[in-house]
Amino acid sequence: MQLVSSLEQLRQQVKQWRQHGLMIGFVPTMGNLHAGHLSLVEKAKQYADKVIVSIFVNPLQFNEQSDLDAYPRTQEKDAAQLVETACDIVFMPDAKTVYPEGMAKQSKIIVSEIGDRLCGAHRPGHFDGVATVVTKLFNMVMPDIAVFGEKDYQQLLLIKKLVDDLNMPIKIIGSQTHREQNGLAMSSRNQYLSEAEKTTAGEIYHTLVDIKHSLENGRNDFTTLCEQAKQNIEQKGFDIDYIEICREIDLMPAQSSDKVLRILMAAQLGPARLIDNVTCHLA
Ligand code: PAF
Repeated sequence: MQLVSSLEQLRQQVKQWRQHGLMIGFVPTMGNLHAGHLSLVEKAKQYADKVIVSIFVNPLQFNEQSDLDAYPRTQEKDAAQLVETACDIVFMPDAKTVYPEGMAKQSKIIVSEIGDRLCGAHRPGHFDGVATVVTKLFNMVMPDIAVFGEKDYQQLLLIKKLVDDLNMPIKIIGSQTHREQNGLAMSSRNQYLSEAEKTTAGEIYHTLVDIKHSLENGRNDFTTLCEQAKQNIEQKGFDIDYIEICREIDLMPAQSSDKVLRILMAAQLGPARLIDNVTCHLA
Protein backbone atom coordinates (compact mmCIF):
# COMPACT_ATOMS: atom_id res chain seq x y z
CA MET A 1 0.00 0.00 0.00
CA GLN A 2 1.37 3.41 -0.97
CA LEU A 3 0.88 6.63 1.02
CA VAL A 4 0.56 9.48 -1.46
CA SER A 5 0.07 13.17 -0.76
CA SER A 6 1.09 14.73 -4.08
CA LEU A 7 -1.41 14.96 -6.90
CA GLU A 8 1.34 14.41 -9.48
CA GLN A 9 2.38 11.12 -7.89
CA LEU A 10 -1.24 9.99 -7.70
CA ARG A 11 -1.86 10.79 -11.36
CA GLN A 12 1.32 9.00 -12.47
CA GLN A 13 0.31 5.80 -10.70
CA VAL A 14 -3.29 5.95 -11.94
CA LYS A 15 -2.05 6.55 -15.52
CA GLN A 16 0.18 3.46 -15.29
CA TRP A 17 -2.70 1.31 -14.01
CA ARG A 18 -4.94 2.59 -16.77
CA GLN A 19 -2.31 1.74 -19.39
CA HIS A 20 -2.54 -1.84 -18.10
CA GLY A 21 -6.34 -1.74 -18.50
CA LEU A 22 -7.01 -1.89 -14.75
CA MET A 23 -10.29 -0.70 -13.19
CA ILE A 24 -9.89 1.92 -10.47
CA GLY A 25 -12.15 1.97 -7.39
CA PHE A 26 -12.35 4.94 -5.03
CA VAL A 27 -13.48 5.45 -1.43
CA PRO A 28 -13.43 9.10 -0.31
CA THR A 29 -13.27 9.60 3.48
CA MET A 30 -12.47 12.21 6.09
CA GLY A 31 -10.42 9.66 8.04
CA ASN A 32 -10.93 8.45 11.60
CA LEU A 33 -11.76 5.14 10.04
CA HIS A 34 -13.98 2.49 11.60
CA ALA A 35 -15.26 -0.91 10.47
CA GLY A 36 -17.90 0.78 8.28
CA HIS A 37 -15.21 2.55 6.22
CA LEU A 38 -13.16 -0.63 5.93
CA SER A 39 -16.19 -2.44 4.52
CA LEU A 40 -16.44 0.26 1.81
CA VAL A 41 -12.89 -0.61 0.75
CA GLU A 42 -13.76 -4.30 0.48
CA LYS A 43 -16.87 -3.40 -1.50
CA ALA A 44 -14.79 -1.28 -3.92
CA LYS A 45 -12.44 -4.24 -4.42
CA GLN A 46 -15.39 -6.35 -5.63
CA TYR A 47 -15.76 -3.96 -8.58
CA ALA A 48 -12.20 -2.78 -9.25
CA ASP A 49 -8.64 -4.05 -9.65
CA LYS A 50 -7.10 -1.22 -7.65
CA VAL A 51 -8.58 0.71 -4.75
CA ILE A 52 -7.69 4.27 -3.73
CA VAL A 53 -8.88 5.68 -0.39
CA SER A 54 -8.66 9.43 0.18
CA ILE A 55 -8.41 11.03 3.61
CA PHE A 56 -9.19 14.72 3.63
CA VAL A 57 -11.09 16.63 6.31
CA ASN A 58 -12.91 19.02 3.99
CA PRO A 59 -13.30 22.47 5.59
CA LEU A 60 -15.82 23.51 2.94
CA GLN A 61 -18.51 21.16 4.28
CA PHE A 62 -18.38 22.23 7.94
CA ASN A 63 -20.83 24.84 9.21
CA GLU A 64 -18.98 25.61 12.43
CA GLN A 65 -15.25 26.26 12.79
CA SER A 66 -15.39 24.56 16.23
CA ASP A 67 -16.81 21.38 14.61
CA LEU A 68 -14.00 21.41 12.01
CA ASP A 69 -11.35 21.97 14.69
CA ALA A 70 -12.71 19.14 16.86
CA TYR A 71 -13.00 16.63 14.00
CA PRO A 72 -10.67 13.73 14.89
CA ARG A 73 -7.53 13.47 12.74
CA THR A 74 -5.96 10.03 13.11
CA GLN A 75 -4.00 9.53 9.89
CA GLU A 76 -1.34 7.14 11.23
CA LYS A 77 -3.93 4.88 12.82
CA ASP A 78 -6.07 5.09 9.65
CA ALA A 79 -3.13 4.06 7.44
CA ALA A 80 -2.33 1.16 9.79
CA GLN A 81 -5.92 -0.09 9.45
CA LEU A 82 -5.93 0.29 5.67
CA VAL A 83 -2.79 -1.85 5.29
CA GLU A 84 -4.95 -4.78 6.39
CA THR A 85 -7.49 -4.13 3.62
CA ALA A 86 -7.56 -4.21 -0.18
CA CYS A 87 -6.48 -0.55 -0.34
CA ASP A 88 -3.62 0.11 -2.82
CA ILE A 89 -3.16 3.86 -2.32
CA VAL A 90 -4.08 6.15 0.57
CA PHE A 91 -4.29 9.63 -0.91
CA MET A 92 -3.87 12.29 1.78
CA PRO A 93 -3.76 15.69 0.09
CA ASP A 94 -3.26 18.82 2.18
CA ALA A 95 -5.59 21.84 2.01
CA LYS A 96 -3.23 23.63 -0.42
CA THR A 97 -3.47 20.73 -2.88
CA VAL A 98 -7.28 20.69 -2.74
CA TYR A 99 -7.90 24.45 -2.47
CA PRO A 100 -4.74 26.10 -3.87
CA GLU A 101 -6.28 29.57 -3.85
CA GLY A 102 -8.22 29.07 -0.64
CA MET A 103 -11.89 28.24 -0.26
CA ALA A 104 -13.28 31.71 -0.94
CA LYS A 105 -11.99 31.67 -4.52
CA GLN A 106 -12.96 28.05 -5.18
CA SER A 107 -15.63 27.43 -7.87
CA LYS A 108 -18.49 25.57 -6.19
CA ILE A 109 -20.86 22.81 -7.26
CA ILE A 110 -24.51 23.17 -6.24
CA VAL A 111 -26.71 20.10 -6.57
CA SER A 112 -30.20 21.50 -6.82
CA GLU A 113 -33.22 20.42 -4.75
CA ILE A 114 -31.90 17.30 -3.06
CA GLY A 115 -29.20 19.35 -1.34
CA ASP A 116 -31.73 21.77 0.18
CA ARG A 117 -33.88 19.34 2.17
CA LEU A 118 -33.38 17.30 5.38
CA CYS A 119 -29.74 17.74 6.45
CA GLY A 120 -29.30 20.47 3.79
CA ALA A 121 -31.99 22.57 5.47
CA HIS A 122 -30.26 22.26 8.84
CA ARG A 123 -26.70 22.67 7.58
CA PRO A 124 -26.75 25.45 4.94
CA GLY A 125 -23.95 25.07 2.39
CA HIS A 126 -22.93 21.64 3.70
CA PHE A 127 -23.88 19.71 0.57
CA ASP A 128 -22.34 22.32 -1.75
CA GLY A 129 -19.11 21.69 0.16
CA VAL A 130 -19.52 17.92 -0.21
CA ALA A 131 -20.38 18.12 -3.93
CA THR A 132 -17.44 20.45 -4.59
CA VAL A 133 -14.83 18.34 -2.82
CA VAL A 134 -16.16 15.07 -4.26
CA THR A 135 -16.04 16.54 -7.79
CA LYS A 136 -12.46 17.67 -7.19
CA LEU A 137 -11.44 14.29 -5.76
CA PHE A 138 -13.10 12.50 -8.69
CA ASN A 139 -11.10 14.71 -11.09
CA MET A 140 -7.90 13.93 -9.20
CA VAL A 141 -8.41 10.16 -8.91
CA MET A 142 -10.42 9.57 -12.13
CA PRO A 143 -12.01 6.36 -10.78
CA ASP A 144 -14.30 3.98 -12.66
CA ILE A 145 -16.37 3.32 -9.56
CA ALA A 146 -16.75 5.00 -6.17
CA VAL A 147 -18.34 3.63 -2.99
CA PHE A 148 -20.30 5.65 -0.39
CA GLY A 149 -22.03 4.46 2.78
CA GLU A 150 -25.81 4.38 3.02
CA LYS A 151 -25.69 5.92 6.49
CA ASP A 152 -25.34 9.22 4.65
CA TYR A 153 -28.20 8.30 2.33
CA GLN A 154 -28.91 11.89 1.26
CA GLN A 155 -25.22 12.34 0.41
CA LEU A 156 -25.27 9.10 -1.61
CA LEU A 157 -28.25 10.27 -3.69
CA LEU A 158 -26.76 13.72 -4.11
CA ILE A 159 -23.54 12.23 -5.47
CA LYS A 160 -25.46 9.96 -7.85
CA LYS A 161 -27.28 13.04 -9.15
CA LEU A 162 -24.05 15.03 -9.39
CA VAL A 163 -22.43 12.32 -11.50
CA ASP A 164 -25.50 12.06 -13.78
CA ASP A 165 -25.98 15.82 -14.12
CA LEU A 166 -22.31 16.45 -14.95
CA ASN A 167 -21.91 13.36 -17.19
CA MET A 168 -19.09 11.90 -15.14
CA PRO A 169 -18.21 8.36 -16.29
CA ILE A 170 -18.21 6.97 -12.74
CA LYS A 171 -20.47 4.29 -11.29
CA ILE A 172 -21.61 5.19 -7.76
CA ILE A 173 -22.17 2.25 -5.45
CA GLY A 174 -23.98 2.42 -2.11
CA SER A 175 -22.89 0.20 0.77
CA GLN A 176 -24.98 -0.98 3.71
CA THR A 177 -24.67 0.82 7.06
CA HIS A 178 -22.49 -0.88 9.66
CA ARG A 179 -23.99 -0.90 13.15
CA GLU A 180 -22.87 -1.42 16.73
CA GLN A 181 -24.59 -4.25 18.61
CA ASN A 182 -27.29 -1.91 19.93
CA GLY A 183 -28.10 -0.72 16.40
CA LEU A 184 -26.18 2.58 16.54
CA ALA A 185 -24.87 3.38 13.05
CA MET A 186 -21.08 3.52 13.04
CA SER A 187 -19.81 7.07 12.65
CA SER A 188 -16.65 8.99 13.43
CA ARG A 189 -18.83 11.29 15.51
CA ASN A 190 -19.82 8.47 17.90
CA GLN A 191 -16.56 8.97 19.75
CA TYR A 192 -17.84 12.31 21.04
CA LEU A 193 -20.40 10.28 23.06
CA SER A 194 -19.96 8.92 26.59
CA GLU A 195 -20.64 5.19 27.12
CA ALA A 196 -24.09 6.03 28.54
CA GLU A 197 -24.87 8.25 25.52
CA LYS A 198 -23.75 5.47 23.14
CA THR A 199 -26.30 3.17 24.77
CA THR A 200 -29.04 5.81 24.46
CA ALA A 201 -28.02 6.54 20.84
CA GLY A 202 -29.16 3.04 19.83
CA GLU A 203 -32.72 4.42 20.23
CA ILE A 204 -32.37 6.22 16.88
CA TYR A 205 -32.25 2.94 14.96
CA HIS A 206 -35.00 1.38 17.09
CA THR A 207 -37.27 4.37 16.48
CA LEU A 208 -36.69 4.13 12.71
CA VAL A 209 -37.41 0.39 12.77
CA ASP A 210 -40.60 0.99 14.82
CA ILE A 211 -41.82 3.47 12.17
CA LYS A 212 -40.94 0.95 9.44
CA HIS A 213 -43.01 -1.75 11.19
CA SER A 214 -45.97 0.63 11.58
CA LEU A 215 -45.84 1.39 7.84
CA GLU A 216 -45.63 -2.31 7.05
CA ASN A 217 -48.71 -2.80 9.24
CA GLY A 218 -50.68 -0.38 7.10
CA ARG A 219 -50.31 3.01 8.77
CA ASN A 220 -50.09 5.83 6.27
CA ASP A 221 -50.58 8.88 8.49
CA PHE A 222 -46.95 9.82 7.99
CA THR A 223 -47.00 13.16 9.78
CA THR A 224 -48.65 11.79 12.95
CA LEU A 225 -46.33 8.78 12.96
CA CYS A 226 -43.23 10.99 12.80
CA GLU A 227 -44.62 13.45 15.35
CA GLN A 228 -45.30 10.61 17.86
CA ALA A 229 -41.81 9.18 17.28
CA LYS A 230 -40.32 12.64 17.79
CA GLN A 231 -42.12 13.11 21.10
CA ASN A 232 -41.05 9.65 22.35
CA ILE A 233 -37.41 10.02 21.46
CA GLU A 234 -37.15 13.60 22.71
CA GLN A 235 -38.08 12.30 26.17
CA LYS A 236 -34.87 10.23 26.06
CA GLY A 237 -32.71 13.33 25.73
CA PHE A 238 -32.45 13.81 21.96
CA ASP A 239 -32.90 17.14 20.25
CA ILE A 240 -34.46 16.23 16.90
CA ASP A 241 -33.58 18.06 13.66
CA TYR A 242 -35.99 15.92 11.64
CA ILE A 243 -37.73 12.57 11.38
CA GLU A 244 -39.21 12.14 7.88
CA ILE A 245 -40.69 9.47 5.68
CA CYS A 246 -39.54 10.08 2.11
CA ARG A 247 -39.63 8.47 -1.29
CA GLU A 248 -36.45 6.43 -1.52
CA ILE A 249 -35.74 7.45 -5.10
CA ASP A 250 -35.44 11.21 -4.58
CA LEU A 251 -36.11 11.88 -0.88
CA MET A 252 -39.19 13.99 -1.61
CA PRO A 253 -41.91 13.68 1.09
CA ALA A 254 -43.71 10.34 0.66
CA GLN A 255 -47.35 10.14 -0.47
CA SER A 256 -49.60 7.31 0.75
CA SER A 257 -49.42 5.69 -2.74
CA ASP A 258 -45.59 5.41 -2.59
CA LYS A 259 -44.25 1.92 -1.95
CA VAL A 260 -40.48 2.33 -1.71
CA LEU A 261 -39.63 4.57 1.19
CA ARG A 262 -36.71 5.79 3.32
CA ILE A 263 -37.25 6.83 6.90
CA LEU A 264 -34.60 9.32 7.97
CA MET A 265 -33.64 10.99 11.21
CA ALA A 266 -31.09 13.53 12.42
CA ALA A 267 -30.75 14.31 16.09
CA GLN A 268 -28.37 15.92 18.51
CA LEU A 269 -27.43 13.82 21.55
CA GLY A 270 -25.08 15.59 23.95
CA PRO A 271 -22.09 16.71 21.87
CA ALA A 272 -22.85 14.70 18.70
CA ARG A 273 -25.19 15.27 15.78
CA LEU A 274 -26.22 11.77 14.65
CA ILE A 275 -27.98 10.70 11.45
CA ASP A 276 -29.45 7.40 10.36
CA ASN A 277 -32.04 5.95 7.99
CA VAL A 278 -33.76 2.69 7.08
CA THR A 279 -35.41 1.49 3.91
CA CYS A 280 -39.03 0.32 3.78
CA HIS A 281 -40.56 -1.57 0.84
CA LEU A 282 -44.35 -1.88 1.07
CA ALA A 283 -46.28 -4.59 -0.69
O1 PAF B 1 -18.86 11.14 3.88
C1 PAF B 1 -17.78 11.74 4.07
O2 PAF B 1 -16.90 11.31 4.83
C2 PAF B 1 -17.53 13.07 3.35
O3 PAF B 1 -18.72 13.80 3.23
C3 PAF B 1 -16.86 12.88 1.98
C4 PAF B 1 -17.74 12.14 1.02
C5 PAF B 1 -15.54 12.14 2.15
C6 PAF B 1 -16.56 14.25 1.37
O4 PAF B 1 -15.71 15.00 2.18
